[in-house]
Amino acid sequence: MTRILTVISGKGGVGKTTTVSNLGAALLQKGKNVIILDANVTTPNLSLHLGIPFYPTTIHDVLRKDRDVNEAIYHHPSGLRIVPASLSIDAMKDVNVKKLERVLWNLLGQADIIIVDAAAGLGKEAQAAIDVADELIIVTNPELPAVTDALKTIRLAEDYGTKVMGAIVNRFRGKSYELPLDEIEDMLEVPILTIIPEDLSIPKSISLKVPVVNYRPGCRSSLRFKRLAGKIAGERRRRARIKKPWFKRFFKWS
Ligand SMILES: Nc1ncnc2c1ncn2[C@@H]1O[C@H](COP(=O)(O)OP(=O)(O)OP(=O)(O)O)[C@@H](O)[C@H]1O
Ligand SMILES: [Mg+2]
Repeated sequence: MTRILTVISGKGGVGKTTTVSNLGAALLQKGKNVIILDANVTTPNLSLHLGIPFYPTTIHDVLRKDRDVNEAIYHHPSGLRIVPASLSIDAMKDVNVKKLERVLWNLLGQADIIIVDAAAGLGKEAQAAIDVADELIIVTNPELPAVTDALKTIRLAEDYGTKVMGAIVNRFRGKSYELPLDEIEDMLEVPILTIIPEDLSIPKSISLKVPVVNYRPGCRSSLRFKRLAGKIAGERRRRARIKKPWFKRFFKWS
């Protein structure tokens, strides 16, 4: 069965696309069959994060001209499959985001997980990405404007009856001026799935057009993305082995 996860935020620029490319790459490393799809049709940049060259068929052609979404699947060298968006302003015209549902319908069965990169805000684009999702991941930064807007997204998701898996707090520095994590959780009333630190490896990886989980697999943000991917993939965390008390180890039969 294909799971559709939409990564969304209220406020723009908080780290949705970074999350989509890295969760996608980390899930792939965990053996999942993944498609990531750019549903941010007005200000798309998933293809820029991943260095996708000009691609003849994009999500815009699928939404505008009823082209088959399978023609718009780009096979990235990393193994990720990506439905990119066009960077041209003209392509935006006459795009009907309501068709997104049918697009995803046509992709069902082709992947274990489809991750949708949504537009920020509460407009039609964001609504369409909420509507198609089985579950939402909300991305926020530890500051009041981002969290307030995230709350609006969560309320909108409630209107659509879309389940919110939880929130990612991105660009966390651990500074006193940041909104405390327990306050963020209290405000949003959803679990915090992970905390991604402010990490220079991220802009560096974007400049090199590779996910940070590939660029620096051992850096702090990569480890968090990979752990979250494990949770999403349903991996159980290995429990620390509890040593038997010495007297039980002494008697081998115990
Ligand atoms: N954890 C982080 N540490 C440092 N920089 C980060 C981190 N996460 C994201 N950034 C930077 O923030 C910028 C915006 O990230 P991104 O494009 O993922 O946000 P977005 O929510 O998708 O934006 P938009 O709303 O415009 O689609 C990027 O240039 C990236 O380098
Ligand atoms: Mg984005």
